[in-house]
Amino acid sequence: MISRGYGSIGPPVPDDPQLPAAAAAPLALSAQRSGPIRGEAATPSDKSMSHRALILGAMAQGETQVSGLLESADVLRTAAAIEAFGAGVTRTAAGSWTVRGGEWRSPAEPIDCGNAGTAARLLMGAASGFELAATFTGDESLRRRPMARVIEPLRQMGARIDGGPLLPLTIVGGALRGIDYVSPHASAQVKSAVLLAGLRASGPVEVIEPARSRDHTERMLGVFGVQVEAEQCAGGWRVRLPSDRRLRAARLAVAGDPSSAAFPLVAALLVPGSQVNLSSVLANPLRTGLFDVLRAMGADLCSTNPRERGGEPVADLTARSSSLSGVEVEAAAAPSMIDEYPILAVAAACASGTTIMHGLAELRVKESDRLAAIVAGLHRCGVNAQMQGDSLIVHGCGGPPLGGASVQTDGDHRIAMAFLVLGLAAQRPVEVDEAGMIDTSFPDFAALMRGLGAAIEPA
Ligand code: S3P
Repeated sequence: MISRGYGSIGPPVPDDPQLPAAAAAPLALSAQRSGPIRGEAATPSDKSMSHRALILGAMAQGETQVSGLLESADVLRTAAAIEAFGAGVTRTAAGSWTVRGGEWRSPAEPIDCGNAGTAARLLMGAASGFELAATFTGDESLRRRPMARVIEPLRQMGARIDGGPLLPLTIVGGALRGIDYVSPHASAQVKSAVLLAGLRASGPVEVIEPARSRDHTERMLGVFGVQVEAEQCAGGWRVRLPSDRRLRAARLAVAGDPSSAAFPLVAALLVPGSQVNLSSVLANPLRTGLFDVLRAMGADLCSTNPRERGGEPVADLTARSSSLSGVEVEAAAAPSMIDEYPILAVAAACASGTTIMHGLAELRVKESDRLAAIVAGLHRCGVNAQMQGDSLIVHGCGGPPLGGASVQTDGDHRIAMAFLVLGLAAQRPVEVDEAGMIDTSFPDFAALMRGLGAAIEPA
């Protein structure tokens, strides 16, 4: 269904995005020093907002219209899932989707979330509130990732969960009670799973997280008519659902993804003579930690034209080549840049001096063990780097690192993109062994980068 044009409403649109073939051959890419990286580009849409727009649309009564949806492999998994739960899902043009929501039903087949942790954890939360049974699974990477953090609160709310703590597992949902959940993790996925389940629970629903994580679910709930209360509290940060939790269908536009924007922007900082302008990048302060750190390192990175899109602040960003210096990044910054450490490590490798990044335990349970993958990749490229507990230390080369290596991505999209950017700045080309997974978050990465002058080609 999803691979033939998204549900039964409306004609299929030419160039429908496709879920990746089950066993596509690994695609190796190589990046080498080129001329300046210059030009303007449309920022790919935000992955976190895209998942949430589909899920909330599927839970709301009526027809939700989303524009600028990211059509990446991860988001298409969520589109397929909500359709399997009974939503009417139609793609009317590139990035423009309508979702007809309502009551969810048991899907005929297991929900395969592919590589997408956000899809798995948010959909598990949302599905728990409905009277249905659903089995969740994913690819090899997702089946290794911790789900206990979501299973635990959902069980406390009354969901029956068979199996676990890893995928596959089966949820039997319905008739949930409220919860006052103190999460041990500053994780937006955990917080969102509880809030989505809580939409259909009886009684108060509250989550306290030790530090504030991205608040896209709370903001987007506001667009769908449910105003979440949020405040600082003794244990960190508290969010609370109101008693009126009825979702009303909405229209919303998805902002540009700062996590994807980071790759062309850092490429421009590192390659001499470069200047890149990206429009409509999400400027939510809970997502822009990397940009603050880069500025502290000396980056010429300007933000202009602040405005609003889809209930979120956005701005245009311009990056120009800069000489960077090492800095110390406190653990408190981690939630606001958790996906950006691979590319920050690459910037640190080209900087002068040492960069120390603290509080990175969560990097070990991402699409790969990112801490290990970053250090291994840097070593191969001739950069001195170490892990020390949950900290990462990168000794900058004060200019182009050696490169001339093949880097293992461990099937991780952000490791692949980060080391391709390193290849653009390095003395010798850098190859990544598996770049196909880039499609999970940034399907047009290679084309966009080539359009800006980057030499990225099949290896
Ligand atoms: C996400 C939250 C983060 C992030 C992930 C997307 C989200 O994960 O790493 O890529 O959309 O909620 P955690 O909640 O595990 O920190």
